[in-house]
Amino acid sequence: MAVGIFDSGLGGLTVLDAVAKRLPDVPFVYLGDNAHAPYGVRDADDVYALTCAATERLWDAGCDLVILACNTASAAALRRMQESWIPADKRVLGVFVPLIEALTERQWGDNSPPREVAVQHVALFATPATVRSRAFQRELAFRAIGVDVEAQACGGLVDAIEEGDMILAEALVRSHVDALKRKMPTPEAAILGCTHYPLMQEVFQDALGDGVAVYSQANLVAESLADYLERHPTMQGAGETSLFLTTGDAKRVSDHATQFLRRQITFEPA
Ligand code: DGL
Repeated sequence: MAVGIFDSGLGGLTVLDAVAKRLPDVPFVYLGDNAHAPYGVRDADDVYALTCAATERLWDAGCDLVILACNTASAAALRRMQESWIPADKRVLGVFVPLIEALTERQWGDNSPPREVAVQHVALFATPATVRSRAFQRELAFRAIGVDVEAQACGGLVDAIEEGDMILAEALVRSHVDALKRKMPTPEAAILGCTHYPLMQEVFQDALGDGVAVYSQANLVAESLADYLERHPTMQGAGETSLFLTTGDAKRVSDHATQFLRRQITFEPA
């Protein structure tokens, strides 16, 4: 009865941690495509092909339901996968919609028409591919009216985090926040639209100031997954053990993951 969690690298571990806490009885199989990270600088066809391959690997591991804990894959590949590729007995869900439902004060899965919401100026921090896709703005427009979104593509940040270079990562966060503030001086809310970024959440909050509500996805995805599994209990697949898989160097990835989550994580080759 396992659920698959996919990311290009280590960022999805922020989501894995939250879903495993929220659903302690569900086994999760995590797959990091570290050999091909970062996805944020790749074109949409490339991200689509890599995401399909990783999803098939998770189906093979007994996960009928796969969460793309990667905004870049959710933005650049998910719609195309859902339209023509996913078989009827499998599901693939992304991480954008729970975040937007929270931002627009909706119940999980509420598909009623767009309406006015409290927040009007939103800063989006994401990878270049996610920003280019405009998927966030598209999903938001289905749910809210009159929200102004200013997006900042945070080039280099995922590489610095994957490399464990937190000094460079902090400098990049501060310079991307400065660049955003030049375009939108007083956002009310900021979205960390990449699952790597919660690892830098305190720096984002500090650079943005206390008055800005910073939204990150992990807990929101966990709550919405719990709700989804309650409504679709058969979507927990056949797998029975939790597992960490990587397409990269298992020893190196395990060391970085252990450093990030501050607990021992052991990856196996995918
Ligand atoms: N953590 C991913 C995301 O949420 C991917 C980042 C990347 O591979 O560039 O976008």
